[in-house]
Amino acid sequence: LAEKKKHDLVVVGSGPGGYVAAIKAAQLGFDTACVEKRGRAGGTCLNVGCIPSKALLNNSHLYHQMKHEAKQRGIDISGDVSVNVAQLQKAKDTSVKQLTGGIEMLFKKNGVTYYKGHGSFEDENNIKVSPVEGVEGSVTEETILEAKNIIVATGSEVTPFPGIKIDEERIVSSTGALSLKEVPKRLAIIGGGIIGLEMGSVYSRLGSKVSVVEFLPKIGATMDDEVASATQKFLKKQGFDFKLGTKVLSAERNGDVVNIEVENVKSGKKESLEADVLLVAIGRRPYIQGLNAEKLGLEVDKRGRLVIDEQFNTKFPHIKVIGDVTFGPMLAHKAEEEGIAAVEYLKEGHGHVNYANIPSVMYTHPEVAWVGKTEEQLKEAGISYKIGKFPFMANSRAKTNQDSDGFVKILIDAETERILGAHIIGPNAGEMIAEAGLALEYGASAEDVARVCHAHPTLSEAFKEANLAAYSKSINF
Ligand code: FAD
Ligand code: NAI
Repeated sequence: LAEKKKHDLVVVGSGPGGYVAAIKAAQLGFDTACVEKRGRAGGTCLNVGCIPSKALLNNSHLYHQMKHEAKQRGIDISGDVSVNVAQLQKAKDTSVKQLTGGIEMLFKKNGVTYYKGHGSFEDENNIKVSPVEGVEGSVTEETILEAKNIIVATGSEVTPFPGIKIDEERIVSSTGALSLKEVPKRLAIIGGGIIGLEMGSVYSRLGSKVSVVEFLPKIGATMDDEVASATQKFLKKQGFDFKLGTKVLSAERNGDVVNIEVENVKSGKKESLEADVLLVAIGRRPYIQGLNAEKLGLEVDKRGRLVIDEQFNTKFPHIKVIGDVTFGPMLAHKAEEEGIAAVEYLKEGHGHVNYANIPSVMYTHPEVAWVGKTEEQLKEAGISYKIGKFPFMANSRAKTNQDSDGFVKILIDAETERILGAHIIGPNAGEMIAEAGLALEYGASAEDVARVCHAHPTLSEAFKEANLAAYSKSINF
């Protein structure tokens, strides 16, 4: 007979949604358990997503700077600068291990019981944890967790491309792309979204010739159009080749090469491409395999998402769902916010996530970051707006750092001058967007921001100046 344990709350999945929910719940006094089958906490984000990709982005950027910019910056490096892929991977693994281990420590500190094993619904009040082969510390026998409340945070997985077989060697998903053993001479990418452009940047800096095939006529699907086309320009300058409005018909590995057939959507013209590695990055889909959600009759929509109401409830109010496995953008910080709010609903009966204020960041160089409405969305909604723009070329810190590509673009309501959207391409745009988020959350006008004293010389002065430009005139441009 399976062993039985009781908890106030059982969270299935330890990604940014699940682990944050579990810690918050324990802090609020719930006897909380978290079930994870991967063997390491942190989910997609820490293991095969945000963290390893940023480790590679950071170090490939350093390499590129040392190789191509050091001399002009007055740094002489004796001998050639070269890449040691094994060490690059080791540095990445060290960051991942430290952070995933950190979550286990936080679980201990906050009193969250951590079960390593596969979680599935036995019924609406019981989660069965089954042993997972090869996972160190996995439960050794089936364990039943009787739970007053359950939060499902099982995340997402790579969307497969029908007919293309991923071997994680020559034809890879993001997971394989994060662990290549050598730098491919030619890297082809299906999908000009965030994964394609970030991973493309890593390998382009390390010396790959990168070609991106994108179905839509623009890259970065949800970006403001002007920002997307500026982004495309800087990536092109860095050596990217783009085939937009192009669909992939097939791709096949033949020994050490991958042959790809593509077709222009408008003209129907076909073309054959050859690459050493092909990255398939056409999106992610919700993951509920083996969860047994169907046994409970939990509703799943056409896109595979678990259906919930605005309080994260399934048809059972004590079973909530958060993160990538349900509606909304598939972002770590969105999952985290939902984790907190779902637990607050359980404890207090109310919680809050402002879906109109979730930032997006693409960690290329320069970075691209945005929050709130794009120009296209404002036009479609019939809202009249004014634009304030300020280029980093006119920002003293960016000039000093010789890192001045990009601009800040602020969209404000034409009448009230309230900020509606912020779009930044530039160094550290991902940090700067937090200021825009704060302004949006508190309903600031452009003038409110422009009247805040910003330290000099900082990149954030560009944000202030763009706000000034939105309702009046900038000083330095
Ligand atoms: P996940 O992180 O997917 O975690 C779910 C966990 O549940 C997994 O560990 C899984 O093993 C476990 N699980 C599933 N089913 C079961 C079960 N039945 N029993 C036990 N455990 C189970 N987002 C950002 O915001 N910023 C970024 O820079 C960023 N970079 C990314 C880069 C890449 C290459 C990828 C692929 C994604 C990136 N993302 C990024 C997206 C981000 O990783 C996800 O949005 C985030 O991880 C979602 O969190 P989650 O908790 O919903 O799910
Ligand atoms: P994505 O949705 O960002 O981009 C996929 C792209 O592929 C789109 O531009 C789409 O038009 C294109 N596409 C789809 N089908 C195609 C086809 N058949 N042929 C050619 N192009 C096709 O998805 P991506 O890049 O795979 O990322 C998955 C998720 O991970 C995203 O939701 C993203 O939010 C998250 N992520 C976030 C990061 C960040 O915040 N910095 C980094 C990496 C991923």
